[in-house]
Amino acid sequence: MDNRPIGMFDSGVGGITIYKEVREKLPMEDIIYLGDTKRFPYGSKSKESIINLTKNGIEFLLRKNVKAVIIACGTATSQALEEVKKLYNIPIIGIIEPTVNYISSNKKIKKIGVVATSGTIKSNCWETSLLKVRPDLKIINKACPLLAPMAEEGWTDNEIAKLTVHEYMKDVHDVDSLILGCTHYPLFMELFKNEVRKDTEIINTGNVIADYLEKMFSSKEAKSFEKNTCKEDKSQIYLTDIECNFVNVAQRLLGKNKQDIHTFLAKI
Ligand code: DGL
Repeated sequence: MDNRPIGMFDSGVGGITIYKEVREKLPMEDIIYLGDTKRFPYGSKSKESIINLTKNGIEFLLRKNVKAVIIACGTATSQALEEVKKLYNIPIIGIIEPTVNYISSNKKIKKIGVVATSGTIKSNCWETSLLKVRPDLKIINKACPLLAPMAEEGWTDNEIAKLTVHEYMKDVHDVDSLILGCTHYPLFMELFKNEVRKDTEIINTGNVIADYLEKMFSSKEAKSFEKNTCKEDKSQIYLTDIECNFVNVAQRLLGKNKQDIHTFLAKI
């Protein structure tokens, strides 16, 4: 039994889409969430900057004594995960590998769309990882740089959001599956649904990560990463700047009242 919390890191509110699924599937686990709201957005930054910001985030979480870190950010996963894995002696899990594992086992998927930030699409990380396990896949990549800032603003279901998602999805035709490769994008789930076939599976990486963690806990090899058994919820949300819309958006996502979402300032 390991009662230390799980660390989770994103540039802003997007990672809360993962936080929500993990809390639901693994209610005994406490989560220390860090949203780097002071430096948002990550999607337009250089690889070097993303690596440095990710290191800062992980070091903050390590100071909170976490037992593992989930990089709940597609941009940081695609550009920094390999680097940071070499630096820290703790399990660090990004959103790409668990999702690719999930897709590799589904032979019905032949054509797949990946929507993500510009940085993630430029890195080609999704395409490279997918083709490694499924060289037969047809992949359409589409950068949607406006969506994460709109999500932070809470513009996820108005006319502008509708038009923006529609415009980006014009290039993503007839796919069997659509990966929401940025953790902010599940906030636009209903709008994405309107743009794909009825039978297209839209992959919210939050579900995949929650399943992946559950399997990891039950696997015998995961000795360094054991389950919590303590019932009292000690989860905490830290932000690097609290003058932002985070609570409004997180409140909708988590289905909670504003006063029930407490955020703390992370001085990093
Ligand atoms: N949530 C992020 C991602 O998954 C980052 C968005 C941003 O900071 O631009 O890519």
